[in-house]
Order: sequence, then structure tokens, then C-alpha cells
Amino acid sequence: MSIIKVENLTFSYASSYDNIFEEVSFIIDTNWKTGLIGRNGRGKTTFLNLLLNKYKYDGKIISSVKFDYFPYPVADKNRITIEILSEISPTAEEWEFIRELSYLDTESDILWRTFDTLSNGEQTKALLAALFLNDEHFLLIDEPTNHLDAKARETIASYLKKKKGFILVSHDRNVLDICVDHILALNRTNIEVRKGNFSTWMKNFENQQDLELSQNEKLKKEIKRLETASKRTAVWSDKVESSKTGAADKGYVGHKAAKMMKRSKSIESRHNEAVEQKSSLLKNIENADDLKIFPLRHYSDVLVRFESVSPVYNGESICSPVSFEIKQGERVFLNGKNGSGKSSLLKLITGDLIEHVGEISMASDLIVSYVMQDTSDMNGTLSEYAYEYNIDEVVFKSILRKMDFERVQFEKDISDFSEGQKKKVLIARSLCEKAHIYVWDEPLNFIDIYSRKQIENLISKYNPTMILVEHDKAFRDTISTKIIEL
Ligand SMILES: Nc1ncnc2c1ncn2[C@@H]1O[C@H](COP(=O)(O)OP(=O)(O)OP(=O)(O)O)[C@@H](O)[C@H]1O
Ligand SMILES: [Mg+2]
Repeated sequence: MSIIKVENLTFSYASSYDNIFEEVSFIIDTNWKTGLIGRNGRGKTTFLNLLLNKYKYDGKIISSVKFDYFPYPVADKNRITIEILSEISPTAEEWEFIRELSYLDTESDILWRTFDTLSNGEQTKALLAALFLNDEHFLLIDEPTNHLDAKARETIASYLKKKKGFILVSHDRNVLDICVDHILALNRTNIEVRKGNFSTWMKNFENQQDLELSQNEKLKKEIKRLETASKRTAVWSDKVESSKTGAADKGYVGHKAAKMMKRSKSIESRHNEAVEQKSSLLKNIENADDLKIFPLRHYSDVLVRFESVSPVYNGESICSPVSFEIKQGERVFLNGKNGSGKSSLLKLITGDLIEHVGEISMASDLIVSYVMQDTSDMNGTLSEYAYEYNIDEVVFKSILRKMDFERVQFEKDISDFSEGQKKKVLIARSLCEKAHIYVWDEPLNFIDIYSRKQIENLISKYNPTMILVEHDKAFRDTISTKIIEL
């Protein structure tokens, strides 16, 4: 057994004033399969980087293990896969790579292909296999299942379940429930470590919140009652004061006044106690207020029609030709493996001049709002971003506040945002745009669980016309009206 002990950790990025961690202490065991959870921007990736000693911090992090990080940065992706894996795990033998891959339901022939020809899922599996073959190392795994389909997610989760210890960051409840036995939660105002999987943690957290809510209600009533009582006491004591003048029995009145004073003091101290108790409640409640969207109605019913369309790269069609229509009010999902051309098909709707075969017809004057998959080029402040996209800055920022952005984020550069925060910027922009059709490419990647729900509710409520690529099965099941398999 070995532990990771965090003592009075305080950290902030040099470019900003807010502390990501402030005097936090906790202990985790390296034999645990720990799920690290928390809303976007709470500091999950930052914490892993602190364990990796990437930044300077105040306080102590004590541990005797050597950490490895996933996603492992692969320098030259044109190399043969086994070369890359042997670099990660130099002592592992070929048969061991083959064995690990078989645990991951993956054919060993990928070992002899160049890494860049592997699908996202295959790349993830190959890297995880190699990282786990490094026996002495403790793995920090940061969102391994983004971009992967449901089956690949489950395979990876079942693989992790069989491993000894690790820290896994994930927003996927299903994955967490399959493979973790402890939760390290970065809550709004504290950090907690708990035994159990995600569902157990969530249940506990919700019970705690319910309890606090009902205590809060009780205290609110109590405070109101005490306030009324204290007003009454004040009136009485005024009366007693005025009756002093000319009173015969000074002793009696003095005694009454002292009693009043005592009573009002006691009311005041009970009042203060109740206020204090109340303000220590509800600190961890996650806000996820309802979002709004303003879809436009078009006069024609069919907005987009694809007839035998396939994008063409280097003279070759990348998928078998697809035909479909998008009518108003429909939510069409494109389903298919990595590399099957989903993003390219979406881009064709946004007017991107991608070479293709087949016929595309769009309703006239169609206004399209687009959330792209890739966030890597985003930069500038939120104000600059709003200006660039010609959207209402106030509305834009208030949507982000509803998606759990602290005000201090508004001062930062978008390139410094966490992955989930960047994706939220794209979604918030799209929500500000009045459009006939919303084209969203993997909108939920990196997005925290609360905001996934917010987005799901929004779509169910406002029924915008959409075409999407998204691997979150629960989301797809709830909001899709049509699924196109590629
Ligand atoms: N290089 C940086 N410079 C300044 N601030 C940063 C930098 N990287 C991250 N931050 C800020 O630190 C906070 C924590 O970011 P981090 O990436 O650790 O969050 P996270 O919990 O991993 O979120 P996500 O779930 O979106 O991945 C965020 O508010 C982010 O804006
Ligand atoms: Mg992160």
C-alpha cells in the first residue's frame, strides 16, 4: 500500500488571480481505483499536472510512486505503433502487448500499422495497454473515452476495472460506475474523498443537498419568527422606557426593563446563530438553471436534402453515399465509426467547400449555427469572441454563468480555459444565434454531467431543428428523431 498525501495545497496559474486550490488537504491510496470528478474548470487536469510536478505550488504533495499521464503525448505519429508502445514501456515484450490488446478486444495487427492510421478508439486502447505494462508506475488517466462510441467506452471501463490502482477523470457516469471504487470530488467549496462508485457518491451528495435544503427552509422560518419576536420586544421595551417617567414603583419597572433586555439579547443571539447555520448550508449546490434557444421558423418544411452524398479526399469517397432529409423540428443524428466522414458531412451543411459526390440541396436563405468539434484554435477574451461572432455579449455571458462559469473566467483568455469550458463557449455562442438549423459536432465532449442535463432539457423544451454527431447514448436516446448510420 502506498498513499498520495496532499497537505495545504494552494495553487493558482501565473496568468490569473484566482486560486484553483486553496489550502486543501486529503489522502488517497494508490491501490484505489479513484474517479476524479467535478464540473468543468474545477481543476481536475490541473491537479493531475500538479502530481506530475509540472507547476510550482504551495503546500505539500507526498507520494512515493512515479506518475504517468494519459493521453500520452506521441511525438511522431507516422511511426509503427509497436515502436511507440515500446518507448512508453521499454521492458514489455511483444507478447505482452498482444495480451493486453486482446483484453481490450483489439486485434494485434494494429501493432504493425503506423499510429496515425489507427482509429481514435484503437489509439486510446494501444496507449493504455502500454502504460499499464509499466508496473511501477501509477496512472493518471484524463478523459480517455471522449470521441469513442459506447462499446469502446465499455471495453475500456471493463479493462480498467481489472487493473490495480489509478486516478481516472471522467464525465461518463457509466464508465465511472463500471470501474472505480472511490470518488475524489472537487465540489463547489470543498474536496471530498468517498468509498464507492459514482452512483453511490451521487446519491449521497443528493441526499446531503436535500437535507441541507430542508434545514435551510426550517432556518429561514426560524429567522423570520425571531425577527418578528425581536420587533415585538423592541416595541415592548419602548413602552417600558416611556412608562418609567413618573412611575411610582421604579424598582418594578427597572426589573421589567432588565428582563426585556435579556430577552432581546437572547433573541438576537439565536437569530445570529440561525443566520450563521444557514449560510454554512447549500454551499455545494450545483446550479444548472434552464437555458434558452431561439430557433427560427423557415417557410419550407424540408431544410436540407442529401442525395447519395459522400465527401471525397485525395480522389476517393470516404464513406458509402448517404441520402437523407432534415425537416423542421427534426433532430438527426449521424452515427458511425471514427473516420467515417461524419464531421465532413456536417461541414457540407455549414457551406464548407469540401469536395464531394452526390447532390446537396438546401432551403433558400437558410441560417445555420455551427458548433465545431475541434476547440484547439480558440483564443482571445470572451468579449472579443462575442464581437467576432456578432452576438450579444451580455446574453452570451449570462448563458455561460448558467453553465457554471465563475465571473473571474470572463477576464481570462479562452486559450487558457479547460477543455470543457472551451466547448461551453461554442455551445453558448450557438445558443445566442437565431438559426433555422443547428449543426452540432460532438457537443457533449468534455462537458460536465450537470450541463449535459441542461442541454438535454433545453433541446427537449424548445425543439430546435438539429443535425448532430454525439456518442453519448443517453442523450441520443432522449432527443433524436432520426438516426443515420454511416
Ligand atoms: N494554462 C492556464 N493558464 C491559466 N488558467 C488556466 C490554465 N489552464 C487551466 N486554467 C484554469 O484553471 C481552471 C481549472 O482548469 P482545469 O483544466 O484543471 O479544469 P478541469 O477540471 O480539468 O476541467 P474539464 O472538465 O473542462 O477538463 C479553469 O478555470 C481554467 O480556466
Ligand atoms: Mg480537464
